[in-house]
Amino acid sequence: MTSVSYGVVLAGRAASHDHAGRAVRRSTNPARLDEVVAEIVLASPADLLAACRAARAAQPGWADVPAPVRGSVIANLGRLVEDNAAALARLVTREVGKPLAEARGEVQEIIDTCRFFLGEGRRLYGETVPSELPDKQLFTFREPVGVLTVITAGNFPVAVPSWYIVPALLCGNTVVWKPAVYAAACAQAFTELIRRAGVPAGVLEVVPAEGVETFTGLERALAAGLVDKVGFTGSTEVGRMIGELCGRHLQTPCLELGGKNPMVVAPDADLDAAVAGAVFAGFGTAGQRCTSLGTVIVHASLHDEFVRRFVAAVEAAAIGDPFADVLYGPLLDLRFADGFERTLGCIRDHHRVAGSSAVGRIDAARPRDGFVGAAETGLYYHPVIIDGVRPGDEVFDEETFGPIVGVTAYRHLDEAIELANAPGYGLSSSIYTNNPATVFRFRRGVSAGMVSVNNSTSGAEAHLPFGGNGRSGNGSRQSGRWVLDQVTRWQAVNWDYSGHLQKAQLETGVPAADLTYRLPSG
Ligand code: UN1
Repeated sequence: MTSVSYGVVLAGRAASHDHAGRAVRRSTNPARLDEVVAEIVLASPADLLAACRAARAAQPGWADVPAPVRGSVIANLGRLVEDNAAALARLVTREVGKPLAEARGEVQEIIDTCRFFLGEGRRLYGETVPSELPDKQLFTFREPVGVLTVITAGNFPVAVPSWYIVPALLCGNTVVWKPAVYAAACAQAFTELIRRAGVPAGVLEVVPAEGVETFTGLERALAAGLVDKVGFTGSTEVGRMIGELCGRHLQTPCLELGGKNPMVVAPDADLDAAVAGAVFAGFGTAGQRCTSLGTVIVHASLHDEFVRRFVAAVEAAAIGDPFADVLYGPLLDLRFADGFERTLGCIRDHHRVAGSSAVGRIDAARPRDGFVGAAETGLYYHPVIIDGVRPGDEVFDEETFGPIVGVTAYRHLDEAIELANAPGYGLSSSIYTNNPATVFRFRRGVSAGMVSVNNSTSGAEAHLPFGGNGRSGNGSRQSGRWVLDQVTRWQAVNWDYSGHLQKAQLETGVPAADLTYRLPSG
């Protein structure tokens, strides 16, 4: 690898990098803002370019490693993550404030991804296909795309990166990973495990950089022909910019963007189940999943009772120290707290607000009953339920990314589907009903890439296609075997062993047929 002077220095360790002339950021614990988790010496656009160059140089050698051997590397990674699960989960909780139980789930998602793909190393099937000509055989081969640049958010600082990195490496690609700066210590820890599993530098390069520098570096790397595929998980706004940039280079990036995920509660729904689903979907990870619940669209006949139970459940929920047993902890980072403050500014007079003892930051002036731990030290926010949202309201139309859920009422299923699709996203969705006709009409009508029936909008399993449509993405899918189409390309081979030129279409003999023949009637 080229000598670099950027990187992540974990708090408490001696700095081993040359900080000269480089921007330095701190990643802090959002539950205790005075606690520095890591110091990040930021990479420049030139560093990103150099990392892509190193990845380009390493790619043919990595592709030459037999796929089953690469599968063994993935198996080793899975074992290492499993054996380090407790420490990795604690680091996730410390750096991004996700409750420990959820952080353990996030780490489990990496293990599941490794378990799925280690076997893929012995499959990576191509096909033998019959030819229309004699003495000729057709084949398909999966080929690695080449160099992937993967840009990820920090709400799932290790699981979502693994969705790209694990299958990409397994298929013989090399990867340049740009993690979120506010989750850099998690990225550093995951990278260390990947290295210890036998992945050399060059095959995986990690470049901590801010957004603007990343974009400039990516622009240059694409122009220099050093990147073959971009994977991006983040906001719709940035996804649009990356999509435009990649399009200019005739590339289709893998874009996993925001969501405004609806939950429909049909007249026959089990209300307690729906409330439990809404609480987890809306407030798990403090509403900072791309699959978090946006709006509950509840049948008018149940509306008042649903809201009563939903509000009671959220009012009673434990919020606070993410190392304790809580529904949610602090927001990820200051920039997300700022974004959430802006969202709170979009509450209008026709909205009925409930869910907590106040709205905004939880502090001495605005305490929350039953808060777990010390609120003042962290980025803790009151949960918000807004009843009476409607299209045209910002909180209805836009992703909110924080502990806030809208509620609206509907009368007919078609109206519910229209409301579900109105914001133009299309990532996840959910419906509570036991009526099969309702399920299938909703499934067909909703624009989302993922549909939950009697389940939360979040919590997708690691081996189903994950991804969205519309403002949520460009139709690319991650996870399971579907992601293979993002990290490989098909090569079609035809092999003629007849000893002479045979022309497809022109020399394909089909036996003569009498197509005018009809069976005798009667
Ligand atoms: C994300 O928020 O980017 O389905 C991913 C879920 C998780 C993944 C969310 N398994 O909620």
